[in-house]
Amino acid sequence: MIWERFLCKGAVLAALTALLLVFSTGQAVAAEATYVGEQACAGCHVTENKNFGHTLHAKVFRQNPKNEAEKQVCEACHGPGSNHAANPTDKSALISFTKEWGTPVEKQTEQCLSCHKGGQRLHWPGSIHATNKLSCSDCHNPMSRFSANGLLKKASITETCQSCHKQQEAEFKRRSHMPVPEGKMTCTDCHNPHGSATQRLLKADSVNQLCYTCHAEKRGPFLWEHAPVREKCTNCHAQHGSNHDKLLVSARPYLCSQCHSPAVGHPGTFYNASGTAANAQIGGAAGQRVIGRSCQNCHSMIHGSNHPAGARFQR
Ligand code: HEC
Ligand code: HEC
Ligand code: HEC
Ligand code: HEC
Ligand code: HEC
Ligand code: HEC
Ligand code: HEC
Ligand code: HEC
Ligand code: HEC
Ligand code: HEC
Repeated sequence: MIWERFLCKGAVLAALTALLLVFSTGQAVAAEATYVGEQACAGCHVTENKNFGHTLHAKVFRQNPKNEAEKQVCEACHGPGSNHAANPTDKSALISFTKEWGTPVEKQTEQCLSCHKGGQRLHWPGSIHATNKLSCSDCHNPMSRFSANGLLKKASITETCQSCHKQQEAEFKRRSHMPVPEGKMTCTDCHNPHGSATQRLLKADSVNQLCYTCHAEKRGPFLWEHAPVREKCTNCHAQHGSNHDKLLVSARPYLCSQCHSPAVGHPGTFYNASGTAANAQIGGAAGQRVIGRSCQNCHSMIHGSNHPAGARFQR
């Protein structure tokens, strides 16, 4: 039939054009990849498929998919896989999330955000982790269930963060520290690793607002406020840990004398022999400003006072 001849010619023409393209560009133009279904992937990736079966994604995507994307299971994240199945060594034919595979980080993130935009990740774009080119897979490993929840790379949130933040890991090992190593709190009680509207990925509008969420009694209001407390708790406390008592940035009385000249209000001879603890050994009284709780032997309401006569924080 005459139309069959045309069809034939059309096919030959298409083949010739393809060949021409191959010769002119020096490489075959891959056909648009299509979805092949998870059975095909599982055929070659037996172990990955088995481990993946324990994750929340597997449960949701297989048992109760909400849309077409979720129905693709493996390919929901890795993208349509026909080209990869045909040529597994072509790294451009599939989206992967490992460093070795080399898919650009933006592309990886885009895949996850196609379902996880907004919510906790509202501030992901422009956040310090995003601008330092972290991928979601730097903290998450959706291929296995390593953590009780959150599909994290390590067994716990703290371990996940500390795999990069060694300095902070050390801070939490100091004598006085927030009970993070004890498992009573984690990094994400204070930080949102996905980004926040505040500096340092804090979960609150300021350092003080953050501290008040747990130490509400320090919020006040106080009749007599101590200025540095209102300004920033970290004027006196190290946020993660310190080798001084109560996470203090410095030992008392030095903590106080950073701002308060010993000459003002108290005898200017503060640091002579009579002001020391050793004074007791030579028959005098031990200096009250250096023993025990130091300045706080008298100025005990250091965070603020509500006593009518509490202007000097003694009551
Ligand atoms: C014919 C067997 C075969 C099929 C089918 C197949 N793969 Fe692969 N896949 C491989 C091989 C082999 C490699 C390793 C290639 C390499 O390292 O160069 C690989 C690599 C990968 C990687 C990259 C691993 C890394 O190191 O980052 C991912 C992800 C992947 N496959 C996912 C899939 C998905 C999803 C499917 C289904 C759409 C699929 N594969 C189908 C054989 C297959
Ligand atoms: C929710 C998204 C998601 C789904 C669904 C998913 N993967 Fe992955 N896959 C990832 C991420 C992220 C990594 C990188 C993990 C890492 O950091 O090692 C990965 C890594 C891999 C690797 C590289 C080897 C490894 O474990 O690191 C293979 C192979 C792979 N996936 C195959 C599959 C197959 C097969 C399926 C379906 C049974 C599947 N993936 C489903 C996100 C997904
Ligand atoms: C096709 C949509 C889709 C894609 C793509 C996707 N997810 Fe999910 N993810 C879900 C659904 C659905 C859940 C189930 C919980 C829910 O409804 O929020 C989930 C849950 C999660 C959870 C919570 C697990 C838990 O145990 O609480 C994490 C973490 C997560 N995804 C990370 C990722 C990462 C990282 C990627 C990219 C590698 C990714 N997801 C890609 C749809 C998706
Ligand atoms: C710096 C580490 C880190 C990075 C990078 C990261 N996450 Fe997370 N993510 C976490 C931690 C930790 C949790 C658990 C939070 C908790 O339980 O308090 C979490 C929880 C989640 C959850 C479950 C809770 C929820 O919000 O619904 C989803 C979904 C999720 N991440 C998706 C993503 C996606 C998508 C990306 C990439 C754009 C990403 N994450 C990048 C550390 C990270
Ligand atoms: C893959 C490595 C990596 C992991 C894992 C990681 N971070 Fe980061 N983080 C970085 C890098 C890189 C920076 C930016 C450089 C810097 O300040 O050290 C950063 C910066 C930060 C900052 C400082 C923000 C600023 O404005 O200076 C905080 C807070 C932070 N990360 C918290 C976390 C928390 C919480 C986790 C765990 C949920 C985590 N990070 C996991 C790499 C990582
Ligand atoms: C009790 C709340 C709290 C906890 C828990 C916490 N942080 Fe912080 N973190 C802070 C505050 C407050 C800052 C300083 C903010 C400022 O000064 O602007 C900070 C600052 C940081 C910074 C910026 C550099 C620095 O040290 O100033 C990094 C990185 C960081 N934290 C990582 C972590 C990691 C990792 C964990 C868990 C191992 C963690 N944080 C747990 C409150 C906390
Ligand atoms: C998520 C809740 C939470 C947040 C937010 C928080 N803390 Fe704590 N803080 C605790 C817990 C729990 C303890 C341990 C109490 C205990 O062991 O009795 C603690 C202990 C302390 C201690 C006393 C340590 C000791 O040796 O007795 C100081 C000081 C302190 N926090 C200051 C701060 C400061 C400053 C901030 C803000 C940067 C802050 N906290 C934010 C929960 C929190
Ligand atoms: C001027 C320095 C200074 C500032 C600023 C400061 N603190 Fe303190 N804080 C101290 C000292 C000193 C102690 C030890 C008290 C003691 O030994 O009686 C202490 C103890 C604590 C304790 C443990 C004992 C207690 O009283 O509950 C907590 C919790 C605490 N501070 C939270 C905060 C919070 C939250 C802020 C910010 C709103 C803050 N501090 C700001 C000096 C300060
Ligand atoms: C970061 C600086 C800073 C630190 C550290 C600090 N203070 Fe203050 N303190 C101030 C400022 C500012 C005022 C308000 C002075 C004013 O109103 O003239 C103040 C006020 C006071 C007052 C009331 C005095 C007055 O003139 O009204 C006393 C008492 C006091 N501080 C004791 C202490 C003690 C005790 C410590 C150590 C635990 C301490 N301060 C640590 C800055 C600091
Ligand atoms: C033995 C008790 C005691 C000790 C210890 C003590 N103070 Fe005082 N301090 C007082 C009294 C009492 C006043 C108030 C005098 C008044 O109301 O006029 C005062 C007043 C102050 C004032 C206000 C100054 C002014 O002009 O009125 C400051 C600031 C102050 N002390 C800081 C300190 C610091 C810093 C230390 C530790 C080095 C310290 N105090 C240790 C009893 C003490």
